[in-house]
Amino acid sequence: MDTPRHFLDLHELDAGVLRAILEHAKALKAARPSRGKVSLDEGAPLDGMMLAMLFEKPSTRTRMSFNVGMRQLGGQVVVLNADDLQLGRGETIVDTARVLSRYVDAIMIRSNRHQNMLDLASHATVPVINGLTDDSHPCQLMADVLTFEEHVGPIRGKSIAWVGDGNNVAASWIHAAAKFGFSLRLACPEDLRGGLTAALEWARYETIDMSVSANPIEAVAGADCVVTDTWVSMGDADIDARCEMLAPYQVDKKLMSHAASNAIFMHCLPAHRGEEVTAEVIDSSCSVVWDEAENRLHAQKAILVWAMAGLPA
Ligand code: CP
Ligand code: NVA
Repeated sequence: MDTPRHFLDLHELDAGVLRAILEHAKALKAARPSRGKVSLDEGAPLDGMMLAMLFEKPSTRTRMSFNVGMRQLGGQVVVLNADDLQLGRGETIVDTARVLSRYVDAIMIRSNRHQNMLDLASHATVPVINGLTDDSHPCQLMADVLTFEEHVGPIRGKSIAWVGDGNNVAASWIHAAAKFGFSLRLACPEDLRGGLTAALEWARYETIDMSVSANPIEAVAGADCVVTDTWVSMGDADIDARCEMLAPYQVDKKLMSHAASNAIFMHCLPAHRGEEVTAEVIDSSCSVVWDEAENRLHAQKAILVWAMAGLPA
């Protein structure tokens, strides 16, 4: 049996495949009719197909965008919260993978542990898509690159500054920098870079223009895009210590003034105004966060079609 087309992490996927998925996302978005938001896409490429969405953590955007995206493509979804499954009573993820594979055509998982997602993928006989783990968030990055290119133009050679926690989303930015060929300047407190260890180790063997410092101004200087994320990710415990360490990394108007004059601001959301970003920045004209949220839909539709229908090749 052929290995299913899993979408687990950007660094494991071919750069050409990622670019083809992104271009398909742009085409799907451009082809959307102006009528009802959940109207069917031309050709309904996933007609008759079913996606299971398995959540071990909360979600608004991932839950909605995969759900709506499948319907627009002609398919259907079933949403599973881990606590409602026998998984919550000790059935293994491996057995869950084998069983779900008998019912559905693909599985999206948002997992507490990256290893759970890997175990699911290694025993599923249908494609598995990473909808966020503690280690990475590749679907987010496909939407983010799409958003950057819509607002600024081709991302290759451009400069992105990540300011804040060295977390799962930051790790996927490192993967994306190598795959899409942009410069990445990360400013993270030294004690909050644990989430980047594997990505930084991987990046050592890649052609990638990247730096890591504890200096937000240095990271942002001249950047085409400034991006941040929550100081407290789902599952983080040390809330007070994190907020204290991250206070100097807040993205405010003063920090944005060091970026390029037409720089955009991005955030995967949910945001916490007054913590990682001020309202003055996220609610200003340089902020593209609502397009970024919408683009989860278009990017993931292209991922679904790639994984489930084999397009584009
Ligand atoms: N950005 C993102 O993944 O949002 P949700 O947690 O709401 O899915
Ligand atoms: N880093 C955040 C991203 C949420 C979409 C978290 O893992 O909670």
